[in-house]
Formats: sequence, structure tokens, C-alpha cells
Amino acid sequence: MIETIATNPYTDQKMGTAGLRKKIAIAMQPNYIENFLQSIFNTIPNLEEKSFLVGGDGRYFNKTAIQKIIKIAAANHVKKLYIGQNGLVSTPAGSCIILKNKLDGGLILTASHNPGGINGDFGLKYSTSTGGQCQPHESQAILEQTLKIKEYKISDSPDLDLSHLGVFHCEETEIEVIDPYTDYIKMMEGIFDFNQLHSLLTSEFRFVFDAMNGVTGPYAKRIFEEILGAPQGSVLNATPKEDFGGLHPDPNLIYAKTLVDLMYSDNAPDFSAANDGDGDRNMILGSHFFICPSDSLAILTDNYRLIPAYKDGIYGVAKSAATSMAVKRVADTLKIGFYEVPTGWKYFVNLMDSKRITFCGEESFGTGAAHIREKDGIWAVLFWLSIIAATHKTVKQIALEHWQKYGRSYFLRNDFEGIEQSVADKLMSELEQRLPQLSNKQFGRFTVSTAYPFVYNDPVDNTSTQNGLIVHFTDGSRIVYRLSGTGTNGATLRTYIERYVTGDIDEDPNKMLQELCAVSREISNVTALTGKEQPDIIT
Ligand code: G1P
Ligand code: ZN
Repeated sequence: MIETIATNPYTDQKMGTAGLRKKIAIAMQPNYIENFLQSIFNTIPNLEEKSFLVGGDGRYFNKTAIQKIIKIAAANHVKKLYIGQNGLVSTPAGSCIILKNKLDGGLILTASHNPGGINGDFGLKYSTSTGGQCQPHESQAILEQTLKIKEYKISDSPDLDLSHLGVFHCEETEIEVIDPYTDYIKMMEGIFDFNQLHSLLTSEFRFVFDAMNGVTGPYAKRIFEEILGAPQGSVLNATPKEDFGGLHPDPNLIYAKTLVDLMYSDNAPDFSAANDGDGDRNMILGSHFFICPSDSLAILTDNYRLIPAYKDGIYGVAKSAATSMAVKRVADTLKIGFYEVPTGWKYFVNLMDSKRITFCGEESFGTGAAHIREKDGIWAVLFWLSIIAATHKTVKQIALEHWQKYGRSYFLRNDFEGIEQSVADKLMSELEQRLPQLSNKQFGRFTVSTAYPFVYNDPVDNTSTQNGLIVHFTDGSRIVYRLSGTGTNGATLRTYIERYVTGDIDEDPNKMLQELCAVSREISNVTALTGKEQPDIIT
């Protein structure tokens, strides 16, 4: 039976760059998810003809939310839901499944790399038939619904068992529990040379993948161990857990510490990688060597010809403004298009849809390509392994040769977390006002050339977006300032610090950037405004 439940609006359901993201305690409030889902469905016409994918990264509350999605979708006469077995679907596989099966969209339950468990975060992304997240006008329409919602519809049917594949019904809605791995694996087999990769992973080459107890565990087990022949146990933390086993499933030097320690130990494997909770971020490490994500994008782009799917050419490449300029030097050399966009994958998606780019990436451990409309952690790992298989070089050799050829952009991100929103806003607006006065000003050995707010004119949407403030120095160094759009604890100031060097390419970034980091704090006035002498997190 379909029931209509009276409700009151919540006023905080605005989606950010990564969908709706909230503390679990907020998401679990009465009618909170229900309101949001009904608001989404209110914006989609002809639901009786529409099919959606449902699944997520396996975090706490996902199973409960999926049952609510089933019942609310059924009460709104949605034609069909495809649900990943046990409620699991990685973000990249979700995009792949939507595109391959021509679905009308998806409800992907993830807060990405944010912690899980009962004290962690909850997230919900609404993807459209493009395989990517909905556009700003669509999230605006949903927000308007959330602010005026008075009732939602829900079926009173019992919960469905999602552990078995098969076709079920809730009211008139067909529910198909699908294997969330096969389509994605086939897609990877169509891009890379799996025979070549099999030879590598069954050789002496020592490979480790850390799934961080997120959703990529079962994907990685199948791809790296079962198909490509890596020894059993090569995939660590391979079982998705509701609390990620207490880990913060963000693949970087801080949160993937156990893996990093292994890679810097005497017993270090040749190569390792980690993915985040929902599988769209990646970190690449070699023996005693870390690949900065900005460099990863540049190195992958420089080697596109080694990959079967790209050997005949790629369109171009894009990076977020916060990402280092390394990939621009590659694009200029290869004479392919180069684009610099605001933070948020949707900007890349527009460039992919209009065939301007094939590859893209961000400093925040996200790399991807036009095979789907989300960033793709396992794709990046397969790409790196393919370069190693083809060149027989180590990770370190590949990076050093790259820097010898192009010079190196030393790069660090300094995050100042938990700032009161009003203080963060003040810092940014005061800094923006001061930017014109910074020109030609000297800070130690660094002299500012230009400083301006980064404004992006989207060539597809004809919209312009302001995202961050950029300070350029005469030696090619840069500092970018912006506020995070995904945090759930107050505001986070992100400071991106980059220094371009052609000589000393094998130095410690902390050493090479120490002075510029101090300059970045001086320019932003962060210590005076927040009391913080140092960043909370450096990545
Ligand atoms: C962060 C990253 C950004 C990424 C987003 C979603 O957003 O910095 O590059 O696109 O997560 O994964 P932020 O919190 O900086 O707005
Ligand atoms: Zn993610």
C-alpha cells in the first residue's frame, strides 16, 4: 500500500560539489532522507518510464537508506531500480552502469573519502543519464522542492533482501539486484591490454592495492587477483565495512599511513595504490616514492600512446585551477588542448561531452577520463601499471625522467580546518580586496607578478564561475586559495602551494616549499584571523 506522509521541510539540503553530504546524525533525523528523495522525484517527469541505479560505498546507514529509496521510488511509480548486490556500487562503476545500460540516472550513496560509522558522514549523489552528477540548475530545482515539501509518498512493503541477484517487485516497480562488477570490468578490459598487465602481475613485480575497507575491495580482488593474476592477498582491506574499519578512507600520505609505511620500509613492494571509500580517488606509490596527484595526471597524459584505447590520439586534458601546472607543460608539448577549470567534476564533464578533453584530474587524488563521467581510481591504477609494463621502468624512474624532461612543480596543499564560517568568509573577502595591491610585492625571494580571482567561463554552458583566488610569482610559483565545499565541520581554507624548478628535481617538497608556505600564510593573514600558526593537514 502507498502511504502519503505529512512532513516539514529541512532547510539544509543544498547539494555541494559532491551531492548532499551530512553527518549521519543529521541524515538520520525523521523524514530527512525521505524529504530529500521525494524532492528529487518531484523534479523528474514521467517516473513511470524511468529506470535508476541505486548503490553505494557500503557505509553505515546505506542499507537503511536504500530500503527507503526502494519504497519511495515505488510509491512514486518509478519503472525500475537496478540495485548493486548488497547495496554496493563504486562511484566509477555506477557511472559506467548508467551509461552502458542507458539508465535515466542513479542514486549513489556515498560520502566518498569521509569517515563512516555511526559518527561519520552520509552522502547521496543524484546522477543523471549522463552518468555524471546533476547540473546546477537540476540541484537548484531539487533544493527548491526541499524548501517547500509538505508530504512524501512511501510504500509500506517489507524490506527487500539485496544479497541475492534477481528480479523482485515493490508495488509496481521492478527491482533488479545486479552484479555491480561485470560492466565495469568489461569496460576496463576494453581500455587496457589485460594480457600485458597479466604478465606484469604474475612476474616478480610486487604489487599491493589498499581498498581502505571501502567499496573497491571486491572490484580490486576480481581485477587484480582473479583476472590479472596478482597473488592472493595483494588487495589489502578488501572487505567493505560500514565504518571502514575505523579508517579515514582517503588515499593520501596521512590517512593511508600503513600503506605508506610499507612503501618506505626495507620490504617495500615495487608498486602500490590506494582508493578512497567510493573508489573515485587514487594514490600511487612506488618503492620509497610518492607520486603527487598533479604529477600523476601529467605523467599519464604524457604516456597516453601506451594504452590501446588512446593510442590513436586524445582530445585534450583539463585540470582544476588548484592542481599544479605540470600537465599544461605536457599538453603544450604534445600540442593537445589544455583547460583549467574550477573545482568540481562537472566542469570536466562538460569538456568531455563536447569532445574537448579525454583526460582530467585534480590535486585531491582524482584522475579520470572520458570513458565515464566520474573520476576513476582503478582506471588510474591500471594506467600506471600499463606504463610500467610497457617501459619496464620503476615508478621513481618514470617520475624522474618526466621531471628531467619537463621540470618539476613541487606541490603541497595546506588545509586549515574547522574555521568558523564567518571568519573564513571574512578571510577570503579581505584577501580578494587586497589582491590588486599584491602585484610586484616581494616576499623573501618570491615576487608577485599577478593576483586575481579565478573566473571560469564554461564554453558549453555559457556560465561563469568564480572559484578561488590565485597569486602568481615571477619564477612560475603559484598559490591558490579557496574554501572547501565538502566539509561537514565548519569551514576549511585550502591553500595550494606550487613552485616550479628545473634543476633540483629530486628534493623533499616540504623543504622546497617551506618558504613559500610561510608566504602563503602571510598573504592570507590566516594566523591573525584564526589563531592557527600551521595548517591542520598537509597533503
Ligand atoms: C574536495 C576536493 C575536490 C573534489 C571534491 C570531491 O572538494 O578538494 O578536488 O572535487 O572534494 O571529491 P573541496 O572540499 O575542496 O570543495
Ligand atoms: Zn570519492
